[in-house]
Amino acid sequence: MVDDGTGLMVETRGLVKRYGKFTAVDHLDLRVRKGEIYGLLGPNGAGKTTTIKMLCGLLKISGGEAHINGKQVPDGRIAAEVGYMPQETALYPGLSVHQNLAFFGSIFGLTRREIEVREKTLLEFIGLPEWRNEMVGNLSGGMKHRVSLACALVHMPPLLLLDEPTVGVDPELRVSFWDYFNEIKNRGRTIVITTHYMDEANRCDRIGFMHDGHLIAEGKPDELLSLTGCACLEDAFMSFSAGGREEAER
Ligand SMILES: Nc1ncnc2c1ncn2[C@@H]1O[C@H](COP(=O)(O)OP(=O)(O)OP(=O)(O)O)[C@@H](O)[C@H]1O
Ligand SMILES: [Mg+2]
Repeated sequence: MVDDGTGLMVETRGLVKRYGKFTAVDHLDLRVRKGEIYGLLGPNGAGKTTTIKMLCGLLKISGGEAHINGKQVPDGRIAAEVGYMPQETALYPGLSVHQNLAFFGSIFGLTRREIEVREKTLLEFIGLPEWRNEMVGNLSGGMKHRVSLACALVHMPPLLLLDEPTVGVDPELRVSFWDYFNEIKNRGRTIVITTHYMDEANRCDRIGFMHDGHLIAEGKPDELLSLTGCACLEDAFMSFSAGGREEAER
């Protein structure tokens, strides 16, 4: 990975997304350092998915700018640097698990041999080696989620954008997902993850709280707790969003 000298993998400046008159992401300044796990948290409709889709180049930016590894979005070269796991799985139900992985691998230019090697590791990791030849349409919701994560990882990109990757995944597997996320991080990769699970938020290096399209607080989980004097991150979030409301009313 070429270092652009900033130490940042993701940087947005005044990032805006408007849908007509509605502003879903409102002047967002996000800075994610290389090699960290950054959790984006916030209630339904806060703008997390919209932000991630803009970072991937899937949604047109309405204002401000976003940079991935020093390249300004949109840039065709960014696709190779990003593994994206959408909130709604985007797999081919009429293809097998293997064919889905091979498809995503081939669009990123992997050879058949490379796909074979990575597929073996990824199927072990998601706990589905014996489902290799099953049609994705026949899998349970949680299993589809696991395949979707494997597809995001297949080209081993430096940045992973994971939108609620553990929804519908059973507790035991969630723990092994997090072990794997840490392993990926220890190999120098960066992860931006959205979640509604506070135990997962606690496992991030830093988290950002989003509310109504704004980043209302950011820091290490324990820093956010000590700043608010709260015992858990749910309460810390409430405290920051109440503070924001009071300021807006003043
Ligand atoms: N295509 C669209 N047209 C109009 N509004 C949209 C569109 N997509 C999203 N929105 C709105 O933008 C806001 C942010 O949505 P977004 O999906 O980013 O939220 P989120 O933080 O990911 O929520 P969740 O936790 O439910 O996944 C919401 O109010 C949503 O209704
Ligand atoms: Mg979302």
